[in-house]
Amino acid sequence: MQGEQMADPTAVATRKSAGRPAGKSTGRQAGQNAADSVQKAAQKPARWVVYSAPKGGTGKTTSCKNTAVAAAKDGMRVATLDFDPQRTLGQWHELRRPHEVAVIDHYEGTLEEIDAALAQIDPARYDVVFIDTPPSVELYPEATKILLRRADLVLVPTGVGRFDKMSVIPWMEFLRDYGRPAAFLLNRVKRRSVSLREAKLELGRVGRLVPHEVPDIEDMHRVDDIGCSIVDVGAVNGADECLGAWYFIRHELGI
Ligand SMILES: Nc1ncnc2c1ncn2[C@@H]1O[C@H](COP(=O)(O)OP(=O)(O)OP(=O)(O)O)[C@@H](O)[C@H]1O
Ligand SMILES: [Mg+2]
Repeated sequence: MQGEQMADPTAVATRKSAGRPAGKSTGRQAGQNAADSVQKAAQKPARWVVYSAPKGGTGKTTSCKNTAVAAAKDGMRVATLDFDPQRTLGQWHELRRPHEVAVIDHYEGTLEEIDAALAQIDPARYDVVFIDTPPSVELYPEATKILLRRADLVLVPTGVGRFDKMSVIPWMEFLRDYGRPAAFLLNRVKRRSVSLREAKLELGRVGRLVPHEVPDIEDMHRVDDIGCSIVDVGAVNGADECLGAWYFIRHELGI
């Protein structure tokens, strides 16, 4: 079992760009945001938001980075933690230009050494830690349970397709039975489509839904080239929905 392999707390997982001063770029707003963040940190340690879905390609990494950027732009001190050996989030982070965009500290680790991965992050330094996971987390039952117990909120990104729903509905039922606060985040939707309406009904029967669905948009790929999110860019199709998803998260976390 996974739990027998992961007990080495001294194992060093990869850490990227931690240690940079956290916060936003410049100006009076940044100063205010930093002051707000210091005040928040004095009250509570970091909240942990986990993105997970057993099926690949449902939008875990995309949702994770978009909401992390929205949180950072909202003045939160933000870290991301990538458990996916593909390192998609890490590669994206390497392309970011922290002097131009909201600062996010990035960490990486493996589910095999989950204790070491989580121990890298000092909860006093952040308001929110956004955690991306690989597909097929069910292959790592013990590590996944450790992660879920740590989570203050689990987001389950999904498309509206039959096979996405067949994967995420039982996953949501498991999360509910396991007592974890969770919500579906609909991604790659066509606004006002019948399939969206039907998916909302079907998913809503088993779990809560983030009340903002992210549309299927071309710009989602284009901004990756410069390590950005559509939320960094701002007035782009889909950015408001990502911001709305972050506001939902913020309310759920009580911050
Ligand atoms: N709302 C969207 N509009 C357009 N493209 C999207 C959207 N969301 C995700 N994508 C694209 O779909 C693909 C899969 O998304 P993503 O990598 O976020 O899924 P994932 O769940 O993390 O996948 P994996 O399980 O392989 O890690 C990516 O190419 C991503 O750019
Ligand atoms: Mg991914």
